[in-house]
Amino acid sequence: MARTFASTPAAHAQSLKDRMAELIPKEIEEVKAVRAAYGNKSFGEYTVDQAYGGMRGIKGLIWEGSVLDADEGIRFRGKTIPECQAELPKAPGGSEPLPEGLFWLLLTGEVPTQEQVQGLSQEWAARAAIPKFVEELIDRCPNTLHPMSQFSLAVTALNHDSAFAKAYSNGVHKKEYWKTTFDDSMDLIAKLPNIAGRIFRNVYGDGKLPAIDANKDYSANLATLLGFGESKEFVDLMRLYITIHSDHEGGNVSAHTGHLVGSALSDPFLSFAASLNGLAGPLHGLANQEVLRWVQKMRAQIGEGASDDKVAEYVWSTLKSGQVVPGYGHAVLRKTDPRYTAQREFALKHLPEDPLFKLVGQIYKIVPDILLEAGKAKNPWPNVDAHSGVLLTYYGLHHQDFYTVLFGVSRAFGVVSQLIWDRALGMPLERPKSYSTAAIKKMFEGK
Ligand SMILES: CC(C)(COP(=O)(O)OP(=O)(O)OC[C@H]1O[C@@H](n2cnc3c(N)ncnc32)[C@H](O)[C@@H]1OP(=O)(O)O)[C@@H](O)C(=O)NCCC(=O)NCCS
Repeated sequence: MARTFASTPAAHAQSLKDRMAELIPKEIEEVKAVRAAYGNKSFGEYTVDQAYGGMRGIKGLIWEGSVLDADEGIRFRGKTIPECQAELPKAPGGSEPLPEGLFWLLLTGEVPTQEQVQGLSQEWAARAAIPKFVEELIDRCPNTLHPMSQFSLAVTALNHDSAFAKAYSNGVHKKEYWKTTFDDSMDLIAKLPNIAGRIFRNVYGDGKLPAIDANKDYSANLATLLGFGESKEFVDLMRLYITIHSDHEGGNVSAHTGHLVGSALSDPFLSFAASLNGLAGPLHGLANQEVLRWVQKMRAQIGEGASDDKVAEYVWSTLKSGQVVPGYGHAVLRKTDPRYTAQREFALKHLPEDPLFKLVGQIYKIVPDILLEAGKAKNPWPNVDAHSGVLLTYYGLHHQDFYTVLFGVSRAFGVVSQLIWDRALGMPLERPKSYSTAAIKKMFEGK
């Protein structure tokens, strides 16, 4: 059984909001100092090709929670994934970090105490209920509507009760924006398990949903709502899954979109719904669904226990038909994604003999050389999406169309952390300059 938080309330532990209130004035001063010292430094030159090429490599965003190194991978407030696994609080009996702790870390840069993560679990459980009309909205969606579209609709509708939107229309001072952004963000994270669980049970089950348990941590509740709460290993997988999928600096589509939409002072529900719509694309979060489909199609075509040559042939056939190999490549990373490695280690510990895991391992040996030989992809190594589906499938969550919803639940942690800081630091409306091809010709012709 998933471990429950027993009877010690976190009443005397400092709350996250109180800690933020202490940190924000210091950070405002820090940003002022950085801008005074380096504000007129060049961030580097960039070319017309970069404007046509999806702005790769252009440094144009501030993102406090995490920074991605091309070779080393992600660091959350300076900590690698293995460091987070070692240092963040765990539930008694659990061996993966609690996402509650990661959220605290993303916001404050500090590792919380056991009591503080317990306080967050309890607060999220207390805020978890979703309005009746949102339940009905989800229930009225046809089962054929993709779970990500249902997810995005439901999150958009939560804006009905946005504390930020209400405060704004009541004329709140801009210095206070972060407070209601924080409240909405806590509500948003808290309500996601009920939304995800309801979509899952409607699409794949009988629509009946168990209640949130105020004594359980966030991942245990999410697992229960999905129907997998009895498996201690699945609950631990959810903790790891949410932690590693939470944040991947600011330039990826979902993070950047949330930040962009938030810069118009759209509330966290509207901003995060926009993130979800970006996450639902196959080059971004939907890749986890695509990977499992691709791997299963491969298995159906070449059979179980196929030779390396057969696997290689299948990979080449994918490339030759003008498709990407899902789960491989990355816009920033140039090595194996440590989020892939963390999931591989989980699999080696819990399901080393699983045939699908073995196939995923075999693909890992074969694909990078092929992508290098094909000569197009700048990064031939696997990303996070190459591994998540096999773990979920092993525990019985084989509903591929749902995978990106779990990614979305996780990504909320990173997106709202930055939204809170955006409002605390008074970040302005985002508005880069664009040009037409004709304008570029005019600018450079004859020069
Ligand atoms: C993630 C991804 C979108 C990054 O795109 P990017 O930054 O433009 O990548 P690159 O600069 O390496 O792309 C250069 C070329 O290699 C191709 N390429 C990149 N990754 C590839 C892959 N996994 N399989 C086949 N071709 C690939 C690109 O499609 C592009 O081809 P083009 O010039 O014909 O348009 C890309 O690697 C991809 O499509 N991967 C598969 C989908 C996936 O796993 N997404 C999840 C990412 S976390």
